[in-house]
Amino acid sequence: MTVIPGELIRLRPMEPADAEALWRWNSDPEVMRWMQDGYRQTLANVVKAIEGRERNGYGDVLYGVEAKADGRLIGLVRLHGAEPETGIAEIDIYLGEKDYWGGGYGTDAMRTMCRYGFEQMRLHRIQLTVVAENEPARHIYRKLGFVEEGRLRQVFRRDGRWHDQYLMGLLEGELR
Ligand SMILES: CC(C)(COP(=O)(O)OP(=O)(O)OC[C@H]1O[C@@H](n2cnc3c(N)ncnc32)[C@H](O)[C@@H]1OP(=O)(O)O)[C@@H](O)C(=O)NCCC(=O)NCCS
Repeated sequence: MTVIPGELIRLRPMEPADAEALWRWNSDPEVMRWMQDGYRQTLANVVKAIEGRERNGYGDVLYGVEAKADGRLIGLVRLHGAEPETGIAEIDIYLGEKDYWGGGYGTDAMRTMCRYGFEQMRLHRIQLTVVAENEPARHIYRKLGFVEEGRLRQVFRRDGRWHDQYLMGLLEGELR
């Protein structure tokens, strides 16, 4: 199956032609506000990174989030770190196309990827960390059934200040 359908979105592998969008999102301070952004990269670096990526597999699944209505690539979701011995993976999401924020796409992309993780990959637990100030993200995670399990103090640095993060976990059977 090359495409994983959700309600509003579908998930599909990334292509080198997606590099320009990815590069633009990674250069947008509003999109990256609560994300680990690292150092700025050239477009050529991003093309190389996509071309040189290992194939998607159990331990690292990266999918583009495409809006079903117009076929536009609007973000990314990644399930990584899975190991058969633990059945635990981490999930990350971001939507770089800000016009689509608030339209239910992020919720649908998270739900679709988590369902894939539990049903196809037979994961037992999916976890993430989120900066305490990122209210919209915390809201959608809670709505999907993620539980705030702990608060990590001063682990995220932005604009010369430290911020706390919540560790959130979702067990198989809890996805809403
Ligand atoms: C976080 C993100 C994935 C959400 O995706 P989205 O498509 O905008 O989200 P949705 O439209 O599905 O849902 C947004 C929800 O947040 C709620 N919300 C918006 N602003 C809010 C706020 N300040 N406080 C609490 N809830 C808020 C909305 O009401 C909506 O909930 P509802 O459907 O119950 O009404 C997206 O905005 C994004 O990628 N942001 C930048 C990167 C990022 O922060 N990623 C997460 C890092 S952990």
